[in-house]
Amino acid sequence: MALRIASIVGSLRRDSLNRRLHDALLRLVPADLSFHDVPIGDLPLYNPDEEADPAEPVRRLKRAIAEADGVLFVTPEYNRSIPGVLKNALDHGSRPPGESVWAGRPAGIIGVSQGKIGTALAQQHLRNILAYLDMPTLGQPEAFIQWSDAMLDADGTIGAGSRAFLQGWIDRFAGWVRRHAG
Ligand code: FNR
Repeated sequence: MALRIASIVGSLRRDSLNRRLHDALLRLVPADLSFHDVPIGDLPLYNPDEEADPAEPVRRLKRAIAEADGVLFVTPEYNRSIPGVLKNALDHGSRPPGESVWAGRPAGIIGVSQGKIGTALAQQHLRNILAYLDMPTLGQPEAFIQWSDAMLDADGTIGAGSRAFLQGWIDRFAGWVRRHAG
C-alpha cells in the first residue's frame, strides 16, 4: 500500500512560488508515495478556549495528519521565520496535551524565496519546532532554494538545471518516510 504524505504549503498566496515548487515536486515523487494537500488557510487563530470543541477545519487538519505516514512542509520565509499561518497550524495540531497529531511522524522541509538564503532561517526555526513536536526531520540534503524563472518550465515542471537536485531531494525524503514508517 502506498505511503501517505500530508503536504503543507506555508503560503496562502494565489501565485505562490512555494505552491508552484510543491506542485512541480509532486511530478517527481516515487510511485509508492501518495501526497495529499492539507489546507491551512481556513483554520481559525488558535485559542485554547476552543480546544474542547474545535472548528471543522481544525478537525479536518487533525484527521489528515493522523492518517499520514509523513509530512512534507514547503514554506516561504517571513521575516526570518516561518509564516504565522504555518505556526498556527502546528499549534492546532499539537493540542490538547498528549494528543498531538505530529508526534513521531517523519517530516521533510523545503522552501523557496527570492532572497539569497532561500528560506534557510525559516527552515531552522521550523526544525526547532518540529524537534519539540517529536517529528524526525530529514537533515540532508538541505534545500534552501533561491527562486529563478528558469527553475520551472512553462508547463510547471522542474527545469533541467534543478531537476537532478530536486529528484535527489524527494527520493531522500521518500527513503526517510519509508524508514520511519517501519
Ligand atoms: C517576505 N519575504 C522574505 N524573503 C526572505 O527570503 N526572507 C524573509 O525574511 C522574507 N520576509 C518576508 C516577509 C513577508 C511578510 C513577506 C510577504 C515576504 C519575501 C518572500 O520570500 C517572497 O514574498 C516569496 O515570494 C514568498 O513566498 P510565496 O508566497 O511566493 O510562496
